[in-house]
Amino acid sequence: MRIEIITTLPDMVEAVASESILGRARKKGLVEVEAVNLRDFTEDKHRTTDDAPFGGGPGMVMKCEPVFMAVESLTGRGGPRPRVLLMTPQGRRFDQKMAEELSREHHIIMICGRYEGVDERIREHLVTDEVSIGDYVLTGGELAALVILDAVSRLVPGVLGDETSPLTDSFSSGLLEYPQYTRPAEFGEYRVPDVLLSGNHAEIEKWRHQQALKRTFERRPDLLETAPLDYKDKRFLKELETS
Ligand code: ADE
Repeated sequence: MRIEIITTLPDMVEAVASESILGRARKKGLVEVEAVNLRDFTEDKHRTTDDAPFGGGPGMVMKCEPVFMAVESLTGRGGPRPRVLLMTPQGRRFDQKMAEELSREHHIIMICGRYEGVDERIREHLVTDEVSIGDYVLTGGELAALVILDAVSRLVPGVLGDETSPLTDSFSSGLLEYPQYTRPAEFGEYRVPDVLLSGNHAEIEKWRHQQALKRTFERRPDLLETAPLDYKDKRFLKELETS
C-alpha cells in the first residue's frame, strides 16, 4: 500500500507519519507514506500554490497547475489508477466503512486543500473522491489526511501486532466496543465485573456482546439501524427499552 499526501506543509505530515505504529509500519515496508511538497511543482520565484478567485471575492483558491503536476508525477504510466482523494468539508463523510474500503487499495493520493477552495477543475478532472472527516472546518486538509492515513493504515494486514484486533473495534462490528478491564481486580472499592474473572468463556462472550449492545443503545442508537442483529439481540434491546 502506497499513500502520498500532497501538501504545502510536508513537515507537519512527516511528524505524525513517523511516530508510533504508523512509523513502525513504514519501517517494515507495510505502508509506504510520502509527504509530497506541493511547492516543488511550482515554477515561479515565489513558489505560488494559490491565487485570487476569478470574479472577485475574499480568500484564495488553490491553483490547478501544481496540483495536476504533483499528481501526474506520482502516477506511473499503465497499471491501475490510484484513488485521488481531496480533503474538503464538502466531501463524503469519512467513516470506518470507508477506511476498510480504502485499506484494500494499492495506491492512494491525498490532496490537502485549503478551505477557501480549490480550482473547480481539480475536483472535476483529477479527483476520484472528495472526503470530509466531519462537519466542522479545519484550516487545511492536513489533519484530515492524517486522520484518514491513521485509520486506513491500521487496517493493513500486519500493521497491528494482533491481527484480530481490528475485528472487534468499535464500528467494524456495527456496534460500539464493550468495556475492558485489566489488573488489579479490585481498585479501592471499584471492582471488575465478576463474570470476567469467572473463566467461563461462553459467559464472557455473552456479557461482552450484551455490553456492546447496551453501550450502542445508550450512546449511538442510530448505529442499531444498520448493525447486524439476531433475534436474541433484538430481544435484549427490547428489554433495555422497557427497563
Ligand atoms: N478541510 C477543512 N475542513 C475539513 C474537513 N472537515 N474534512 C476534510 N478536509 C477539510
